[in-house]
Amino acid sequence: MSNPASRSGNGVNLRGQETDLSARHQTVIVLDFGSQYTQLIARRLRQNRVYCEVHPCAMAASEMAKLQPIGVILSGGPQSVYDENASRVDPAVFDLDVPVLGICYGFNLIAQQFGAEVEASTDREYGRAEIEIFDGSELLDSLAASETVWMSHGDRVAKVPDGFRLIASSKSAPIVGLEDAERGIYGIQFHPEVSHTASGQEILHNFLYRICGASGDWAMASYLEEAVETIRRQAPTGRVLCGISGGVDSSVVAVLLRRAVGERLSAVFVDTGLLRKDERRHMENSLGTGLGLPVTVVDARERFLGALEGISDPEEKRRTIGRVFIEVFEGEAQRLDGAGYLAQGTLYPDVIESVSIKGPSAVIKTHHNVGGLPERLGFELIEPLRMLFKDEVRQLGRELGLPEELIGRHPFPGPGLGVRILGEITPQRIRTLQEADAIFIQELCSRDLYNKVSQAFAVLLPVHTVGVMGDSRTYENVVALRAVETQDFMTADWSPLPHEFLAVVANRIVNEVRGVNRVVYDITSKPPATIEWE
Ligand code: XMP
Repeated sequence: MSNPASRSGNGVNLRGQETDLSARHQTVIVLDFGSQYTQLIARRLRQNRVYCEVHPCAMAASEMAKLQPIGVILSGGPQSVYDENASRVDPAVFDLDVPVLGICYGFNLIAQQFGAEVEASTDREYGRAEIEIFDGSELLDSLAASETVWMSHGDRVAKVPDGFRLIASSKSAPIVGLEDAERGIYGIQFHPEVSHTASGQEILHNFLYRICGASGDWAMASYLEEAVETIRRQAPTGRVLCGISGGVDSSVVAVLLRRAVGERLSAVFVDTGLLRKDERRHMENSLGTGLGLPVTVVDARERFLGALEGISDPEEKRRTIGRVFIEVFEGEAQRLDGAGYLAQGTLYPDVIESVSIKGPSAVIKTHHNVGGLPERLGFELIEPLRMLFKDEVRQLGRELGLPEELIGRHPFPGPGLGVRILGEITPQRIRTLQEADAIFIQELCSRDLYNKVSQAFAVLLPVHTVGVMGDSRTYENVVALRAVETQDFMTADWSPLPHEFLAVVANRIVNEVRGVNRVVYDITSKPPATIEWE
């Protein structure tokens, strides 16, 4: 589905597809104990060409067995294993006869399970730490005698449990690595998935290839063939409807569907009037002309503008845009004879979040979606990216022949400029923001900075400020520029764009965009701010 839906994570079915993937590929199970790094573990495994799935820590070992894993990883987590309600792992996991690796909290759980005390450390180690590594470890094989690692826990293991050997120590915690190669149980107090752990990749590689016997059978080229086959099986006849937004996810879905169902695909692009400058033409060129997709454009600009009249509240804007989007899309769907399937670009992080042990994460913003649509119209959902991370979607896009320019596009929110025009949305304010934003993006591209930031855009503020132009006083709009660098968009740093670059952009905006007399640059990270301003 188009961008508004790509945040939904309300995936209904396709459990089938997941089972299918674990049946086809060697699979590692990552049990989520709530660490902020759990997804990162999973991404690192995939980057090592091993398929993995993240499951809640309460998963029964009998359920794990059904996936025929080659290994299980217990993630870190915010609790302490000695807390009264601490999450546990099903002890039968150790009888599955597959290697188990515990990281941080997972490491403490293993130690506790096998009889060692875990206690609050008097000398807590957070952040970078130096550890000493002992010879003969399978897990830490080929690492130097001393390594820099990333710690983020205040607990320590008090003794080496029976049958285990000590493989690493740090100054303040003598036991930061344990292994029992015979039983295939391994644990480390630090985080190998975090890039600050210098040899983290080697450790995960050792676990996968030396210990679990991985063959590296996960690659996007073969996934592409499998996905095509799965879609054909899932939607053997009838029309498949796919909303496209011009962004990466929905474009990949559409091109993949085109390959799987050919002429049975109907791709729909809704022009909300809240798009970036020239976006519609851009989409028609790249997806229509360039990739040969049969795109129907629905011009709903008037409808969105009408519905948004007088609305300034961010959440009300999102709800309104979401509602109108569904109505427009529904109208289009009903015009199409026999559309039985709706394709959406849901990604794996959305799926993980919706099953996480933390329960539904607190709503900070309503990320509107067309979640209600499939049921309302009796559609069956197709979500071919449901098990993929963003970097894998990009890789899949390359396999499908999408141009690099499209693959590298920054994300764009479903409500579009609606949440970047603070205050009321009017045609004039849309035009002002489109012009300012286009200058910013154009300059980023021409100076080779676009791909160095994760997301960049302009925001139109609801304030007027005094300026002077020529001999006259002005009282006009302020535009804020935002550029961030991030791995996962959950946290982000503001991007330190060169001052002379910002000066050029500001100068051009004030000179070329009527109604703007001041430009500011946002230097707040997320948290405490969010990436968008609304
Ligand atoms: P925030 O502002 O929450 O943004 O830090 C994180 C990422 O999500 C995008 N975003 C949205 N995407 N509908 C969307 O489809 C929305 O309502 C929405 N709000 C934020 C934002 O652009 C960034 O990439």
